[in-house]
Formats: sequence, C-alpha cells, structure tokens
Amino acid sequence: MDGIKRILMDQIRLVQPSIAVLVSSSHGGRDALLTVAWVVPVSYVPSRVAIAVSRERYSYDIIRGSRMFAVNVMEFDYVEAVYRAGTLSGRDVEDKFAACGLTRGVGRTLPIAVVEEALGVVECRVIRVVEAGDHDLFIGDVVDAYVRGKYTTHWDVSSYRPILYISEGHFITIDPGSLRKYDIS
Ligand SMILES: Cc1cc2nc3c(=O)[nH]c(=O)nc-3n(C[C@H](O)[C@H](O)[C@H](O)COP(=O)(O)O)c2cc1C
Repeated sequence: MDGIKRILMDQIRLVQPSIAVLVSSSHGGRDALLTVAWVVPVSYVPSRVAIAVSRERYSYDIIRGSRMFAVNVMEFDYVEAVYRAGTLSGRDVEDKFAACGLTRGVGRTLPIAVVEEALGVVECRVIRVVEAGDHDLFIGDVVDAYVRGKYTTHWDVSSYRPILYISEGHFITIDPGSLRKYDIS
C-alpha cells in the first residue's frame, strides 16, 4: 500500500474536474436555481440527461413538483455567479437570479426559468426520479436544446471557456493549447 492514499467518500474527486452547470426550474410561482456538477448525458436516442440533486436543496421540491428542469451551460466569465448559485439558497434570498447577478429568462419550450446569459440551454421533462443515496437522480427527456455562438458540431474551444469544478471551492477552465484530435470512427 506504499504511496496509496484511500479517499472513500471523496472518490468523486477522482472524476473531477468536471463541468459545473446551473440548473433552473419553476413551480407554483417559485424559481429554482442551483449549481450542479453531477450532470451526465444518459441516452442519445431518446435524448436524455440526468442530474443528481440533494433532497436538502430548496430547488429539489421545485424540480420534483414541476417535473421540469433546464441545464444552463455558462462560460468561465460567470464563475462567480456559479459559485454564488452553489452556496446561496433560494430559501434565504428573495430573487436568487438577481443575487447571483443573472437574468431570469423563460424556456423556449417549457414554461420554466432559464438563465439568459447561458451559452447553451437544455430543457428537460423529468421521466423518472431515482433515489441514489443522499441525492436523487432526475432523469430527463430533452425536449429542446440550443446554443448561442461558439459551437459548430461541438464547442469551439478556440473561444469557449467552460466552468470546471475541481472540489473544495476550486474552479478552473481549459487550456486550448492541449487540444488533440483523434479518429474515433
Ligand atoms: C461547484 C458546485 C457544484 C455543486 N453540485 C451540486 C450537485 O451536483 N447536486 C446538488 O444537489 N448540489 C450541488 N451543489 C450544491 C448546491 O448548488 C447548493 O447547495 C445550492 O446553494 C442549493 O441552492 P438551493 O437551496 O437554492 O436549491 C454544488 C455546489 C457547487 C459550488
């Protein structure tokens, strides 16, 4: 075991840095907005994405109640907003969008809050909620997805700077100089 460090509960940190997005929703006159690093595509056809949300979040009941959510992909310019959305609770502020310096928009397809400043938005209808432990997995059917610039058939990494989360309050973005292209067909 020389040189091996056991990290058990912190195993998640081995698969970070990973993207941190803003998840939004609306239900009964209330908006949800929270930072989520546990977001993963789970199906091409049908197009599906899953997010893990703790039952302790103010946003939890809103997403569960509306059975809708949006994944808002932000650029690194908004890293402080993402940090704030991930530390403030909607329970403690009247308008979490304003408290994070963000503008509330409305989905193109679903009647829920989205983040106007997002470069990419994925609108989802929840098809299943799976208890996973201290978080629940919301699996969503993608009903709409759109980007504003910086995208060809994928992100144009010459200009797009994602927000990646390392852990313990550390955020980072990519180094475009590290780009390698391999044939995957
Ligand atoms: C970088 C980062 C990533 C996070 N990822 C998640 C996540 O995947 N799931 C989750 O439930 N909470 C996550 N959180 C915590 C919530 O965003 C945080 O508790 C937030 O304040 C909840 O807001 P709400 O109470 O208004 O819903 C994350 C926080 C940060 C800073």
